[in-house]
Amino acid sequence: IMVEKQGFKHFMLKEIYEQPGVVRACLEAYLDEGWSADQQKSPVTMAIAPALLADLQHIQIVACGTSWHASLVGKHLLEQLAGIPTSVHYASEFRYAPPPLMPNTLTIGVTQSGETADTLAALEMEQKRRSESPEAADQPRLLGITNRPESSLGRLLPHIIDTHAGIEIGVAATKTFSAQLMAFYVLALELAYQRQTLTPARLEEIVTAMRQLPAQMELVLESQERYIEELAHEFSETQDFIFIGRGINYPIALEGALKLKEISYIHAEGYPAGEMKHGPIALLDEKVPVVAIAAPGSVYEKVLSNAQEAKARDAQLIGVAPMNDADAEETFDSLLPVPVVDELLSPVLTVIPLQLLAYHIAARRGLDVDQPRNLAKSVTVE
Ligand code: G6P
Repeated sequence: IMVEKQGFKHFMLKEIYEQPGVVRACLEAYLDEGWSADQQKSPVTMAIAPALLADLQHIQIVACGTSWHASLVGKHLLEQLAGIPTSVHYASEFRYAPPPLMPNTLTIGVTQSGETADTLAALEMEQKRRSESPEAADQPRLLGITNRPESSLGRLLPHIIDTHAGIEIGVAATKTFSAQLMAFYVLALELAYQRQTLTPARLEEIVTAMRQLPAQMELVLESQERYIEELAHEFSETQDFIFIGRGINYPIALEGALKLKEISYIHAEGYPAGEMKHGPIALLDEKVPVVAIAAPGSVYEKVLSNAQEAKARDAQLIGVAPMNDADAEETFDSLLPVPVVDELLSPVLTVIPLQLLAYHIAARRGLDVDQPRNLAKSVTVE
C-alpha cells in the first residue's frame, strides 16, 4: 500500500495526528455502541475466546520497546480494574530466564509489527514449555496484541487482538501505542465484567468516559501543537532530560523519555516520581529540564510536590497537567495542559504532548525523524 504524508512534514507527525481516529476505530471495533449498565451484559464486543480468560490467577506480558510501555499501562489496568496479578517482562529477558510456571496463567505478547524476534521467541518458548509441563495444569493460553494480524505473530498464536491502527511508517511508535492502550482497556473491562470486580455504575462511568477520548485528544492536538513547537526551540541544545510520573502515568514518563531519545538523540530518563530522591535528583541543575506528568487523581499532589523538589534544584519544569488549575500553573514553568479525565484514562491524553515535544525538538535539530540512526521499525534479529 502507498502511504503518503498528506501535507505533514514527517510521517511521525501525521501518525500523531491520526491518533484520535485510531482510538475512535478501536472503540467502534471493541465496544457495544448502544450498551448501558442496566442491560446486564458486557460492554465489550471484542471477540476473545472464553477459554483464555476463565479462572485466571495470573497474567504475564512479554514485549519490547514502546509495546513494553503499553504493557505496563496494561498491567495497571488488569490489576486495578480486574484484580488479576500481572507481570510485565522484556521479551529479551524472559526468553533466557522465564519465571516459574504457574497454573491458570494467560500469556500476552504485545508487538505492533508482529515480527520482533525476541517477542516471538519468548512466546514460542512459553507455548512449548507449557504444553510439555504437567505443572502448567492446563492448555497453554496465549494471546497476541498486534497491529499486523497477518504477521509471524498471527501465524504463531491462534488468538489475536487486532489493534486497528493502520500502517505506521515512523520508526518511533505513536498511533500503534494508543491502539495498544485501547486493547488493554477493553481487555481489562471484559475481565472486570466477567469477574464482577467493578460495580455496573463504575463500568458505565469508564465506558462513557472512553467515548469522550477522541474529541479530547483532538483538543490536545489543536490547542498545543504550536505552543510545543515554540517551546521546543528552547531545548534544541539540551543534553539531558528527566521525565517523571507516578501510578498509571509512570509508563508514560518512560515512553516520553524513549520518544525523545529515539528521534532527538538527547539523553532522557523516565523515572517514577517518588524514586527521584533515590538517585536522579543528584543530576539536577538548571541545565536538566524535568517533565512531570501530573494527572488529577490518587497521586496528583504527590507528583506536584516531587516536581517542586526538582524546582528547588533549579531544574526547568515542564508539566503535563490539568487545564485551568492554579496549583499546576504555579508549579510549572511551562504547562502542557490536558483535559481532566478519569485518572485511569489519562495516559491516552498525557502521552500526546510528550510525542509532540520529542517530535518538535528532533525536527528543530534537523534530524531524520522518521528514520532515526541505528534504529529499525521492527527488529527481526536477536
Ligand atoms: C523497535 C522499534 C520500536 C518498537 C520496538 C518493538 O525497537 O523501533 O518503535 O517499540 O521495536 O516493536 P514491536 O513491533 O514489537 O512493537
